[in-house]
Amino acid sequence: MKGLILSGGSGRRLRPLTHTSAKQLVPIANVPILHYVVTDLVGVGITDIGIVVGDTGDEVRASVGDGSRWGATVTYIDQEEPLGLAHAVLVAQPFLDDKAFAMYLGDNMFEDSLDGVVDGFDGTAAARLLLARVDDPSSFGVADLADDGTIVGLVEKPADPPSDLALVGVYLFGPRIHEAVRAISPSARGELEITDAIQWLLDTGETVEHRVLEGWWIDTGKKDPLLECNRLVLDRLEGDQVAVDDGAEVTDSTLVGPVAVAAGARIQNSTVGPYVAVGEGCDIRGATVEYSVLMAGAQVSDLDRLTNSVLGREAEVTGTKGARVDLSLLLGDHSMVDLGKGDRWLK
Ligand code: G1P
Repeated sequence: MKGLILSGGSGRRLRPLTHTSAKQLVPIANVPILHYVVTDLVGVGITDIGIVVGDTGDEVRASVGDGSRWGATVTYIDQEEPLGLAHAVLVAQPFLDDKAFAMYLGDNMFEDSLDGVVDGFDGTAAARLLLARVDDPSSFGVADLADDGTIVGLVEKPADPPSDLALVGVYLFGPRIHEAVRAISPSARGELEITDAIQWLLDTGETVEHRVLEGWWIDTGKKDPLLECNRLVLDRLEGDQVAVDDGAEVTDSTLVGPVAVAAGARIQNSTVGPYVAVGEGCDIRGATVEYSVLMAGAQVSDLDRLTNSVLGREAEVTGTKGARVDLSLLLGDHSMVDLGKGDRWLK
């Protein structure tokens, strides 16, 4: 089976971070989301992988490379405009050929391996979907199941959901999907929806199987789910759950696990954790930081406290010594926040 990872899209729900960077490369526990995705596919023996990229293609190429790090072969497929998941299948058709394939949305993360999902799928059934029970089905594609448990319909982001079973970001397809993606028209949001293509398969009498997911699944495309995902992955750290990479410097500080500190980071006179991922080269001085993702080169100083935040690369947050403020931020790359008088910018 081939793998198809979708790593285009505009990342609208994670702006401003995604003005400068791909949402699939945001780090979870200091590792880009996309790397977990490649690892998952390779983990179930899928090593011939196509990655569909858009505007952020160069950055994705630089991060994943040719896949040899994972023992995989990666082919990049350009999608000129983010016109939907079914459009991505359309542009990937030459790569996919007539092989069965697993399509994996590059911003989705899963607790468990995909073993039980891919086992025995050879493309004879037109599709196999993965479903998960969610509290807010109207934010997703939703499945309508008959009493015997078979899928009878699918609807994208319904106002009135037929069930609480959402389509999650891994789909297995046989070759009939290529006909389906050519047959459908754009949705109200102007995209070719994979949900509509699968509905077309159902309407033409094809078999659409499904599995219901048991472990956690997160679509990381918004700040709070992203932070929740960071918490869940950091929770896997063993022992005292404090992971400090070689080349990081921690002085006169308390690290409260789970916490991960990447190489080149410096932490002084601070309390960091729980549930913080400190990226490469970050600098934290005189600050309390919890439940946050700090991307490479971010700086926090004189702040009590930063919580529930995502700081883009080289973002700078400066507080005021001795004052207690709780800040929760989503900052793009190179942003600056200064709670002092801003004097240093006048110099
Ligand atoms: C897409 C699909 C939706 C699915 C979701 C899973 O939504 O269209 O059916 O439930 O991924 O993450 P989007 O993220 O494009 O809004």
